[in-house]
Amino acid sequence: MIRTLFCLIVILFIVNCEQVIVDEHGIFELKNGTDNHKYHELTEILRKISILRGINAVLEWDQQVMMPTKGSGARAEHLAEISGILHERETDPKIGELLTSLESELHTLDAYEAANVKLTRKDYDRKTKLSKDLAEKRAKLSSEGFNTWVEARKTNNFEMFAPILTQWVALQKEIANLIDPSRDAYDVLLDDYEPGTSGQEIDNIFSQLKTELIPLVAAVRRSNSQVDDSTLLEQVYSTKTQEELSRKIASEVVGFDFSKGRLDSSAHPFSLGVDTDDVRITTRLRNNSLLSGLRCTVHEAGHALYEVNLNKKYKGQTVQRYIGVAIHESQSLFWERHILMGTHFWDKWYPHIKDLFGLKASKEIMFKSVNKVNFDNLIRVEADELTYPLHVILRFEIERELFNGTINVNELPKIWGERMEKYLGIKPSNDSNGVLQDVHWGSGYFGYFPTYTLGALYAAQIAAHPTISGWVRENDYNSIINWLRDNVHSKGSVTMTSEQLIKDATGEKLNPSYFINHLRSKYKSIYDLE
Ligand SMILES: *[C@@H]1O[C@H](CO)[C@@H](O)[C@H](O)[C@H]1NC(C)=O
Ligand SMILES: *[C@@H]1O[C@H](CO)[C@@H](O)[C@H](O)[C@H]1NC(C)=O
Ligand SMILES: *[C@@H]1O[C@H](CO)[C@@H](O)[C@H](O)[C@H]1NC(C)=O
Ligand SMILES: *[C@@H]1O[C@H](CO)[C@@H](O)[C@H](O)[C@H]1NC(C)=O
Repeated sequence: MIRTLFCLIVILFIVNCEQVIVDEHGIFELKNGTDNHKYHELTEILRKISILRGINAVLEWDQQVMMPTKGSGARAEHLAEISGILHERETDPKIGELLTSLESELHTLDAYEAANVKLTRKDYDRKTKLSKDLAEKRAKLSSEGFNTWVEARKTNNFEMFAPILTQWVALQKEIANLIDPSRDAYDVLLDDYEPGTSGQEIDNIFSQLKTELIPLVAAVRRSNSQVDDSTLLEQVYSTKTQEELSRKIASEVVGFDFSKGRLDSSAHPFSLGVDTDDVRITTRLRNNSLLSGLRCTVHEAGHALYEVNLNKKYKGQTVQRYIGVAIHESQSLFWERHILMGTHFWDKWYPHIKDLFGLKASKEIMFKSVNKVNFDNLIRVEADELTYPLHVILRFEIERELFNGTINVNELPKIWGERMEKYLGIKPSNDSNGVLQDVHWGSGYFGYFPTYTLGALYAAQIAAHPTISGWVRENDYNSIINWLRDNVHSKGSVTMTSEQLIKDATGEKLNPSYFINHLRSKYKSIYDLE
């Protein structure tokens, strides 16, 4: 797994699909805007960097999808070389000089140009404030941490992993303090994934969710109307036919344009943007499960739509980039949860899918099955829509407490078990399916977990927007795609924060009640709650 601090490559682990996002950059043509030659000098440097990132993305995709296994040695060299060149270009002192000079002339730039300068400054500072020593220390701990995690998980040995965790917390605090000593370390880390938020703000939102979801999960568990999906599970679904269906749904529902993208198979599904005209997604199809493959495809196609619709006018520029990981996740979850997992989708598509596979399950069973709650599941990546946020909240609380010193590393297995019991009514039998289950902490990702649930919240708020919800009822996918392009995708990072983006798009800042209402009404109807 490869990742740099500044979202050159971000790997997301979702439902049971994974995603890789690579910033897309390409050729920049400035039609109008400022005539400040320093600004153009800066954009030219950024454009060249973006070309290297495009090359890097193709190598990454090839490695995941096409490369013969024995190519891995040479590929590691290719990627290391490019990464070295990229680092050199990204920390070029010339960028710093141009930024300093442009910062005194921001008033002469338009909103996108000014944002471009500010965002480039943020990236540049985060790269250059780190000493070479510290950067090497981080890289070393990354690979050591990952390998130790793999071994510890395999052998169910938390004690082996604990020193890695202790070192990571100390190192990330040191790095955060260099980047911005005036802010809380955890907040500085969050900024990489969800710019403009704070641990306290997320804590407030998650507290509301917890209050609502714990009793709702318990009520669904007690319900006498459990979902019986046996007619769905007893069939075998040809993966060739599934692929045909995946291509049709990606194109006719999510608007995936096969002249600008590919759909392939890989062990860990992902989406990767090489350019706005070249976006690759993968899926995973299994002959015993029709719904999981469809969910992966639609999820990744949702991510791809964001990358394809980034604003071409700012090609290769920092401002063109997606605003954050949480909003990126909202774009995949919107299509997966609010379209594919909604009743209107099944009204329209059930007859076609039934014909294709000779489906035995009824339309109602298809809708209920895709939303089925699995109470006894301990594993986050396998969790359903209703229990998923509780897995995330548990991790967010633990990592924030590790950073604010309220708990220490050795207590984690105990705290994990207690909270699983309290939030979900289940307890892991060992650490491998408890505190050791996720890759994130071993590789130093702190502040990433909350974005999965923030993404779900943004998606629900967008879906609840009166204009959008009308189109969802009518299965009017084109209108939805156009709205998302105009209000989310093409904005790139011009709003600087996700909070401003969602406010501009929906007229309101992030409000968890849309997500809560969505879950309450859906699960009350499926599980026949009072
Ligand atoms: C730049 O182009 C936009 C439309 O693309 C136009 O509204 C604006 O007036 C132009 N500005 C200049 C300075 O030419
Ligand atoms: C942990 O427990 C699960 C289920 O109880 C079991 O399948 C798994 O093999 C155990 N892992 C280890 C490493 O003991
Ligand atoms: C289903 O897939 C599994 C695993 O790939 C394979 O072993 C099995 O033969 C397949 N079954 C059918 C009926 O195609
Ligand atoms: C530490 O983090 C937890 C989890 O977010 C929070 O509930 C608690 O108030 C924080 N404590 C301090 C002292 O900041």
